[in-house]
Amino acid sequence: MKINIAIDGPSAAGKSTIAKKLGEKLGYVHLDTGAMYRCTALKCVRNNVALDDEEAVCRMLADTEIVLTPEGGVFMDGEDVSTAIRQDEISMAASKVSALKNVRSDLVARQQEMAKAGGFIMDGRDIGTVVLKDAEVKIFMTASPEARAERRYRQNIEKGIPTSDIATIAEEIRQRDYDDTHRANSPLRKADDAIEIDTSDLTIDEVVSRIYSLAEPFISREEN
Ligand code: DC
Repeated sequence: MKINIAIDGPSAAGKSTIAKKLGEKLGYVHLDTGAMYRCTALKCVRNNVALDDEEAVCRMLADTEIVLTPEGGVFMDGEDVSTAIRQDEISMAASKVSALKNVRSDLVARQQEMAKAGGFIMDGRDIGTVVLKDAEVKIFMTASPEARAERRYRQNIEKGIPTSDIATIAEEIRQRDYDDTHRANSPLRKADDAIEIDTSDLTIDEVVSRIYSLAEPFISREEN
């Protein structure tokens, strides 16, 4: 059986980019769990469901299909929402709904079901601490707030996502960092057995090969 790799860390630390590249190198599937919180937020905004009304959000979520394709597509109730969920407004809303305990338990159960077969690189905030506590490789990825704001800005431009300026993005990142690390339910924190990688001054390929070399011993053991 293939192993699972958990990557956690604050927003815009490079988790998704690295996980996607690493997935290609290993023949593993990348699952971006943040996309599931973003879908929940998008549907709330579209349907005027208050982001702090836990019961209403959960009722809506129970009736929501979220599909993450191996190619990185995000489909909600059959609609491709890959771009819509990346707007700044939805980032903030996702942070809010992700604080709700029963939203988390619904999505965590879906994530655990998806990863059952092994062979996944899952990125999020609580993967190493809650979702995949037994993951063979756990990474806690960080980067300076400046590096993260700049990367998110560039990413928005490249993907044609409507974007705020760098200073506004930096402020939003700071706010989300605070909210994600201070919430009562599964706050963002490094798992005791996770390895921390600061990506501020590393290239994507350097980070990928660092994680690859951490995973390699487990992978060759699985194959023998
Ligand atoms: O990784 P991201 O920026 O797309 O995540 C969007 C929000 O969802 C983020 O503010 C924190 C939350 N999130 C979470 O609480 N747990 C996860 N496993 C993934 C994301």
